[in-house]
Amino acid sequence: MATRAAKSSMKILVVASTRPNFVKVAPLMEAFGQALKHHSGLTVKLVHAGQHYDDRMSRSFFEDLGLPSPDIELAIGSGSHAEQTGHTMIAFERKLIDEQPDWVIVVGDVNSTLACALAAKKLGIKVAHVEAGLRSRDRTMPEEINRVATDVLSDLLFTTDRGADANLRAEGVDSDRIHFVGNVMIDTLLKHKEQACALQWWKHLGLEPGQYAVVTLHRPSNVDHREILTGICSALQTIQGELPLVFPIHPRTRKMAITFGLLDSMSQWPNVQLLEPLSYLQMLSLTSNAAVIMCDSGGLQEEALVLGVPCLTLRDSTERPITVELGGSVLVGNKAGTIIAAVRSRLANGWPAMGCPELWDGAAAERIVRVLLERSCAEGFN
Ligand code: UD1
Repeated sequence: MATRAAKSSMKILVVASTRPNFVKVAPLMEAFGQALKHHSGLTVKLVHAGQHYDDRMSRSFFEDLGLPSPDIELAIGSGSHAEQTGHTMIAFERKLIDEQPDWVIVVGDVNSTLACALAAKKLGIKVAHVEAGLRSRDRTMPEEINRVATDVLSDLLFTTDRGADANLRAEGVDSDRIHFVGNVMIDTLLKHKEQACALQWWKHLGLEPGQYAVVTLHRPSNVDHREILTGICSALQTIQGELPLVFPIHPRTRKMAITFGLLDSMSQWPNVQLLEPLSYLQMLSLTSNAAVIMCDSGGLQEEALVLGVPCLTLRDSTERPITVELGGSVLVGNKAGTIIAAVRSRLANGWPAMGCPELWDGAAAERIVRVLLERSCAEGFN
């Protein structure tokens, strides 16, 4: 019987690029840090592709999460989808040729996730996708294109729930490539929750716990169209008359609110605090104690479920249906009347009990690292 050639070294590049990616790779880097103690031939490098680059969208997350400085920076910056994807591929390909990694790990569904997976695969480098198999079934979302394409390319697919496994199998992915491991974003939340709560950031804003809503928006489908963003803002204007709002504004949303002439009038509303993007701990401190979260973010839907805080998702679909099935989130779309009615119902009627997803227990990153090492050892790495 042929035996595999022993391999004494293995190099892994872990790619992050946007705010939610930093939250996802932090526990992975920590779990790899533990693995390095037992595998002297293992090298793990962090790549920052630079889709998010400013202090509030990037640096503060490295600080709060204790992430090591990136070993490799691509500094891609902003641009159209093709520009961001193409520039990332070109820059990453050069690094791949220099570094010759065995594996590239990508997380989530942003443009650099797909770009780095594609560049790696074209060079014959193995790709692992963390948070695979999520599907909104809305192909007008850029993220849905990134999810589907990244999953097709990936050798190993790490999923957050069994629904994602089923999606992948239905698309013809072999079961032995799929590993249900839990949710790395929740690893980070559970690790930092106590520290965030101790911050009592709501106090800093003059709020009472449980007596305010946190609002975030950044999906192009909500913020890039005048009529839709105006409608959402009119809902927020009404709601702030009944419940104080904290609204840390994403750069895309701020830019569009200025373009549509909405920001000046919003800043006159008496009961809203319009803020710059918050650090991870500040945001977690606020969301942990909110009466309700209103957002179009995927990650916040998941975090709200684990925090037990009701989440009104301003979308018609979600790639994370488990958050709805377990009672954490309700899809309310982006029409003013429905959003206002949902908030009023929450305030008048409370919220039914929520469930907790399987394996969202703080150990997802450890499982991912274990699977990767077991597989690599089977292939000869020791
Ligand atoms: C991206 C992701 C989205 C993710 C979101 C998290 C894609 C297709 N979209 O959307 O899935 O949920 O990140 O925030 O990959 N900007 C800054 N500073 C920065 C970065 C961006 O001011 O550090 C501004 C720029 O004006 C830029 C705009 O924000 O044009 C949008 O940034 P972009 O990277 O295009 O996508 P996001 O909307 O952030």
